[in-house]
Amino acid sequence: MTLDLDPARLRIGIVGTGAMGRGIAQIAALAGYPVRLFDSNREALGAAIESIGENLERLVQKGKLDAATCDACLARLSAAPTISALGDCALVVEAIVENLAAKRDLVKQLETIIGPRALIASNTSSLSITAIGAGAQRPGRIVGWHFFNPVPLMKVVEVIDGLSSEPGFGDSLMDLSRRLGHTPVRAKDTPGFIVNHAGRAYGTEALRIVGEGCAGFADVDRVMRESAGFRLGPFELMDLTALDVSHPVMESIYHQFYEEARFRPSVITAQRLAGGLLGRKTQRGFYDYSKGASTQAETAVPAELPRSVWISRADSASFESMRALLPPNIPLVADAGQAALCIVTPLGMDATSCALDEGLDPVRTVAVDCFLPLNARRTVMTTPITSRAVRDAAHALLAADGSKVSVIGDSAGFITQRILAMIVNIACDIAQQRIATPADIDLAVRLGLNYPNGPLAMGDSLGASRILTILRRLQEFYGDPRYRPSPWLARRARLGVSLTTEEN
Ligand SMILES: NC(=O)c1ccc[n+]([C@@H]2O[C@H](COP(=O)([O-])OP(=O)(O)OC[C@H]3O[C@@H](n4cnc5c(N)ncnc54)[C@H](O)[C@@H]3O)[C@@H](O)[C@H]2O)c1
Repeated sequence: MTLDLDPARLRIGIVGTGAMGRGIAQIAALAGYPVRLFDSNREALGAAIESIGENLERLVQKGKLDAATCDACLARLSAAPTISALGDCALVVEAIVENLAAKRDLVKQLETIIGPRALIASNTSSLSITAIGAGAQRPGRIVGWHFFNPVPLMKVVEVIDGLSSEPGFGDSLMDLSRRLGHTPVRAKDTPGFIVNHAGRAYGTEALRIVGEGCAGFADVDRVMRESAGFRLGPFELMDLTALDVSHPVMESIYHQFYEEARFRPSVITAQRLAGGLLGRKTQRGFYDYSKGASTQAETAVPAELPRSVWISRADSASFESMRALLPPNIPLVADAGQAALCIVTPLGMDATSCALDEGLDPVRTVAVDCFLPLNARRTVMTTPITSRAVRDAAHALLAADGSKVSVIGDSAGFITQRILAMIVNIACDIAQQRIATPADIDLAVRLGLNYPNGPLAMGDSLGASRILTILRRLQEFYGDPRYRPSPWLARRARLGVSLTTEEN
């Protein structure tokens, strides 16, 4: 079964006029569809139509919408006095409270009102579409249509097929999404769909790094923003979304996947949530917002440069990039025993293991993260017994050309390697489970999470075999199945093909 998408014939009903219902109503009316809104709370319904009017008015004032289009759009919006007034809607979007029983009741009620060929689209972000449709007379007509907040600005939407959903209805929602100016991606009904599933790595791995005492949250944020190119660091992001939203999502997806170690939440956010340190909205989260800014002072750059330096040749590319940073007056020595500072450049290993494996003095050894180009913020990692003088000399050396430097404690895989490898691995496993196509995974994450690149494309550009090495070493070091590589990654890395390669 499909929907006739002609705006002259399709009337869209929306039940639930919170932020999501309003947003969907606005883009549908702007695309030319008559929209009828219903909410069990009369005040919410009135406020919704008013607020859409204000939004459109703002667009007119900014010159982004002409007054005639605005008026025509507003004329297409109407409030339904009772839910029965949605009877002539061939598509009803439910955006009510996130509660399975409430959504199932609504489906049952709608089925007594709408026509036999009408489709019910659920905007749920965390409930199963299959479960919402269970008990319906025609479960085939329940399809997921997951928009993101704010709907007019977040241009991606997930179309989710439940086990009983009729594929033709999903196809219609894909087409309709495009007509509304959105980019649709298609997902199987699984916890978190694509975006909230793929988004599990960024925060949870950052929390592990901090929980392990390797680095402070501000350093993790700086490194992920400045070295890895993310718009917000993971802790800044948690402060923005607020822990009363993000911690329950972490727990919910972890439990829905039966305690999958890759998604394991952290006691850090559990405790902060219990303490009410939710983020920006309570003025205090990981950062203190009571004075406006969310900054934390950086360690001052030490003055003393090393007298001589030895650099590991275990990875020739890293050796070359490190050597290029040496100022001309600091000699590069060939014998580590004679160097004031020994630099190793591990992939997925910690500074201690690297120093010992290469027969170096761990007191005089630091590790530098050469996973990403060294032209942005650099990370120096110490062993537990690296002397302060050596640590400071390494800091001064890496900052000598004006670059920013983060100094962290020992961690297998630094900050960028751990977080990026986890992001790529989880995306690979979404592909492995056939939840979505590789192209849709990359599209959904870029548009839904604002990552600098899709995670599979990211894996390709970082090198799938390097990601595999990092994960294997992390798994061996920590003995944690969290880091086990997805078969999708392992096979494509060994075959030397792109992570976007689908099976023939
Ligand atoms: N807010 C987000 O960021 C976001 C993002 C994506 C998806 N979602 C999902 O969208 C849905 C709505 O989210 P929201 O943030 O707009 O919620 P909200 O709580 O702001 O609004 C829900 C509205 O539904 C009404 N309502 C509740 N039960 C009803 C019923 N049985 N019949 C009619 N109206 C009813 C309420 O009066 C309220 O106005 C939820 O399923 C949510 O998980 C939310």
